[in-house]
Amino acid sequence: MTQSKRIVLSSDHAAIDLRQSVARHLAAQGWDVVDIGPTTPESTHYPLHGAAAAQRVASGDCALGIVLCGTGQGIMMAANKVRGIRCGVCSDTFSARMIRQHNDANMLSIGARVVGEGLALEIVDAFVTAQFEGGRHATRVDMIEPAGG
Ligand code: RB5
Repeated sequence: MTQSKRIVLSSDHAAIDLRQSVARHLAAQGWDVVDIGPTTPESTHYPLHGAAAAQRVASGDCALGIVLCGTGQGIMMAANKVRGIRCGVCSDTFSARMIRQHNDANMLSIGARVVGEGLALEIVDAFVTAQFEGGRHATRVDMIEPAGG
């Protein structure tokens, strides 16, 4: 399995069922899914899981990452604190495609309390199949840096 087909998944307690559905969906498409949990339903802290998934992408271990929480917002914020991560929260397929094509996003976040399973899987498909367009978009992506260097 090539690194380019390895994808990390993580969530908090609010999105375990949807995360596991996404994992099955991607595995059926030939993705090497690295599902880092959690697997038990106890209340947990989304920043821990967002950061853990983001580290897998930032290190190069996984080409892409998908994180999920209730809204998708908190875990997206946590992932974006890791240098080199560009994570967008999406509730529609157009945005999921565009964050790859124009923003070279390497992570997607989904809110399990916002979108249903069918739409979530379509969002995942749009994200993982889109390609970065480069060119003028690369110039802009290169300008995304933490404030203060
Ligand atoms: C958990 O109740 C909830 O706050 C979390 O899943 C997420 O929505 C945070 O952004």
